[in-house]
Amino acid sequence: MRKGRHPACLLFHFAARMFFAAACLAVVAAGRTAAHAQEVPSVPDLLLGSAWYPEQWPESRWDADLALMEAAHLNVVRVGEFAWSRMEPAEGQYDLDWLARAIRLAEKHHIAVVIGTPTDAPPAWLTSKYPDTLRMDENGHQAQHGGRRQFNYGSPRYRLFCADITGRLAQRFGHDTDVIGWQIGNEYTDESFDPATRAQFQQWLQRRYGTLDALNQHWATAYWSQTYDRWDEIPLVATGGNPGLLLEHRHFVTDTWRSFQRVQIDAIRKWADPRQFITTNIGGLAWSDHFDHYEITRDLDLASWDDYVGQGQLDSIRNGAMHDFVRGWKRGPFWVMETQPGSVNWAPINTTLSRGETRVMAWQAIGHGANAVLYWQWRSALNGQEQYHGTLVGPDGEPMPIYSEVSQIGSEFERAASALRRTQPVAQVAILESYDSRWAIDFQPHNHNYDELQVLLDWYRPLRERGLTVDVLNATAPLNDYKLVVAPGLNVLSPELATHLKAYVEQGGHLVLGPRSGMKDEYDSLNPQRQPGPLVPALGGRVEQYYALDGAVPVSGALGSGAATIWAEQLSTQASDARVLLRFGKSNGWLDDQPAMITRPLGKGTVTYLGAILDDLLMQNVTTWMIDGARVQPEFVALPEDVEVCRRVGSGRTIYILLNHGAQPASITLPAPMRDLLVDHPPQTSVTLASQGVALLEEQAQPAGR
Ligand code: GLA
Repeated sequence: MRKGRHPACLLFHFAARMFFAAACLAVVAAGRTAAHAQEVPSVPDLLLGSAWYPEQWPESRWDADLALMEAAHLNVVRVGEFAWSRMEPAEGQYDLDWLARAIRLAEKHHIAVVIGTPTDAPPAWLTSKYPDTLRMDENGHQAQHGGRRQFNYGSPRYRLFCADITGRLAQRFGHDTDVIGWQIGNEYTDESFDPATRAQFQQWLQRRYGTLDALNQHWATAYWSQTYDRWDEIPLVATGGNPGLLLEHRHFVTDTWRSFQRVQIDAIRKWADPRQFITTNIGGLAWSDHFDHYEITRDLDLASWDDYVGQGQLDSIRNGAMHDFVRGWKRGPFWVMETQPGSVNWAPINTTLSRGETRVMAWQAIGHGANAVLYWQWRSALNGQEQYHGTLVGPDGEPMPIYSEVSQIGSEFERAASALRRTQPVAQVAILESYDSRWAIDFQPHNHNYDELQVLLDWYRPLRERGLTVDVLNATAPLNDYKLVVAPGLNVLSPELATHLKAYVEQGGHLVLGPRSGMKDEYDSLNPQRQPGPLVPALGGRVEQYYALDGAVPVSGALGSGAATIWAEQLSTQASDARVLLRFGKSNGWLDDQPAMITRPLGKGTVTYLGAILDDLLMQNVTTWMIDGARVQPEFVALPEDVEVCRRVGSGRTIYILLNHGAQPASITLPAPMRDLLVDHPPQTSVTLASQGVALLEEQAQPAGR
């Protein structure tokens, strides 16, 4: 028991908390939708900011910090996400006045505030008094205080505490004019394997399957005598189990984080103005697959992620693909909630980005559809686990070298904001993604070199190198706006998804499937047809056999010649109008002279299957064939290697963002006279970009009559 506090007093506090938390969980008024930040008149269209932790510093320092931010044109801070012990220093004793004072000071410096709810880092009093709120790992070890993320995401008690502190924050700041939005927790990462969570999993399965017979059938539990006679026999494991169980565990994890988040969304919405958005920070690994990001962001107003390079230099294609992937979560503008001011502290070698690279990264984010970029962090705490991380000011409170580059970004954002207002990337081409498919392949990769991100990038890179905007979308998204849809790895293909894809093709779409497509159903069972399962009739062909490769296999045909590595599928055609585009050369005998890529007209469109991972050159030829066949229009002129073009369209404007990621200067002849919005020049017909150079080009309207 806490020293000096009477038991009755504690009881009273707990009861009051539970009452308040329950009130926060009461149904939120229907039809309330949060406006995007950029639609609030007082909020700039482009935001640049930082994570700021006033609780780590004397209050007398805050004004100096905020003045330095304002001088660097920073206009947003994220605060509070680890400050629970400062907000509620003892159970039931709240102190939010300091936060109110910090917000008022931010406002004085024209800096908007996003409040992070502190639920990623519970205070010591909470977990020591209620150890059931601590999570347990797969080996049965219970987490302890002293780090973060030690909480149990499924704990009803922890959720009540979360609803309570979040509701109190929202009650206090939900109408604050300077608070533009909320971040729930921070990076949902660690699930729990404690007995109570296992029971929740079993109940969840019962709701999903209804009967054990259905579960046993879908998981084919006759295999290895796995048959379950009681729900409580089902284990909770994340690795090594039946693929059906493993896939359902991922769904359960997704649903559990979603309900964890829902508790806080409801607590905020009970009090907050609709103009305040709600997001969470999905984290540094947008590609991570602990849970389904499409499902988690479904309940949020805005998607946001952390864009970290870690060791080495920016991989512009990979990073651009991650931005496009994040933009696809909600099919709209997103935020980069954290990025590195030069370096991080968690990579094997924590190298620093080259001079100018931080600026290119910021503009790349905007080019791919972000409306805000925030650095992590402003200044390190003098102690704590992240002392070596990059910051904008040093332990002395004075600017670090990177501060001037960030200040340049800030002044450029200010200059460009109105031109970019309500513009977004608009694509003719979509790449389809699915978490079920990724999980299914990861459970049984069959070739340990099979890297699904790499496969996605193999398809993405040649499209981007032609300057095309690419949307990366959930496979279930509406597809009618796209001339070309490619699906590099839809391993799990339910009948519903097959119907959706077939309808797209019949109405005139061009669909290209990649290797491993259509092998599994939605329970991670093998489809009884061969690949691509329910799409075999539409394709007029199928996969006869798949082969994991440990060397290169020649491939050639109408689209050129090259090699397949890692994976090859022996295709066959069944329909008379199916055509072979590529064949394997001499290899293991089975593959020799067999089809590697086939295509067929269907309705007003075409369906194509590529059953191999091809080398870059041949993949470029395949890309040419795909975009020509789908009549995808070029969006810009051909560009020198290492120069990236992004296009944002809207409000009657088209803006191109050119980025030189290379070490050498690059000259580009423009398709029309364009004005660089970052410099005071008259419209130009060519532009030269220095290494790490950026241009923000707007096409000039032609005089009438021409
Ligand atoms: C994550 C977290 C931050 C911080 C950074 C360091 O993204 O959200 O709190 O730890 O990493 O890079």
